[in-house]
Amino acid sequence: MPETIPPYGGALIDRRASEEQKNNLRETASTLKRIALNQRQISDLELIAIGAASPLTGYMGRADYRSTVQDMHLTSGLPWTIPITLAVGRDKAPSEGENVALTDDSGALLAVMDVQDVFDYDKQSEAQNVFRTTDEKHPGVAALYAQGDLLIGGPIHLLELPQHADFPHYYLSPAQTRAAFAERGWRTVVGFQTRNPVHRAHEYIQKVALEIVDGLLLHPLVGETKSDDIPADVRMRCYEALLKNYYPVDRVLLSVNPAAMRYAGPREAIFHAIVRRNYGCTHFIVGRDHAGVGSYYGTYDAQRIFSEFDPHALGITPLFFEHTFYCRICAGMASSKTCPHSAENHVSLSGTKVRAMLAAGEMPPSEFSRPEVASILIEAARGQ
Ligand code: ADX
Ligand code: MG
Repeated sequence: MPETIPPYGGALIDRRASEEQKNNLRETASTLKRIALNQRQISDLELIAIGAASPLTGYMGRADYRSTVQDMHLTSGLPWTIPITLAVGRDKAPSEGENVALTDDSGALLAVMDVQDVFDYDKQSEAQNVFRTTDEKHPGVAALYAQGDLLIGGPIHLLELPQHADFPHYYLSPAQTRAAFAERGWRTVVGFQTRNPVHRAHEYIQKVALEIVDGLLLHPLVGETKSDDIPADVRMRCYEALLKNYYPVDRVLLSVNPAAMRYAGPREAIFHAIVRRNYGCTHFIVGRDHAGVGSYYGTYDAQRIFSEFDPHALGITPLFFEHTFYCRICAGMASSKTCPHSAENHVSLSGTKVRAMLAAGEMPPSEFSRPEVASILIEAARGQ
């Protein structure tokens, strides 16, 4: 068996209850206060339960929350940049030491939580630290401002994984992706985060990375994204079409990351890398404006932040890429590191421009998007 990268913190967390534990938990849960989770909170619950957020065993308590927001480390000293919290309204708050039942919005039981900490927090300060802005137009800040005013922290015991009707077979746990890598004999695996259809620039940086590692985990984020992002089910069809036509099947694994998107740019890039380490990746791609939105972050801020951490502590090796584009003179994909020609020779389209073309039923140029992908996107835009 090839050696694999150890999970973050040393051991893969598994908070899924065994069949016998489930009966007990169900019985206990029937007597407990119930808290209905929203989609973002359910995504975090799943990440914790399956070990994607190892070493976390539950929503953060007071000390880890403060240390994450202020110092970008857990109290154990491990780097950690994004608060994984459960916010509730003051009227819903349990007491410290109480157990609560966590449900979905239809009331179906998902988990039991041992509430260890119930605490106030400062949303503005979290916004400024984590998102580098307090602007409520920022989608991550907006979600933070909209959530409850108290945080409850403590370990969770999962009864049921959230239901995923759309593409259930793509939800592989970290243990499953690790097993898949071992089975294929991959020692080095590069993880690719995306919330978009894969365009030529993404394809290029993935393939450049694939030249130096054994395998690629194409790992789209499929939790909540902002409303104008392309829905996950459409994206999955794009990824399938792309892989089928342009990738060596035995060197790519497609599975999904159930996380919600924060749009926290640099801090989220670190979080994305840590999560992919848990899934077994040894390398992680960080390109231009990773996890950014609007103009809140500098183009390479999400790369620069890596130098603030001990590379051995993170463990996963980031692979940084410049802004890439198609150059008509080079007749291929390139970046300012490899192409000497001026910008008017470069094909590089804004997301807004591409959305407008797709909505009008127009194919984006093949230098920008593979036609198989563009056709799926046009068809989806038509159906809206
Ligand atoms: S996101 O999570 O970073 O928002 P997105 O789908 O936009 O996802 O990008 C996926 C990855 O590709 C990120 O690492 C991003 O930095 C990188 N990327 C996207 N477009 C380009 C580009 N034209 N050149 C270089 N890197 C890019
Ligand atoms: Mg982007």
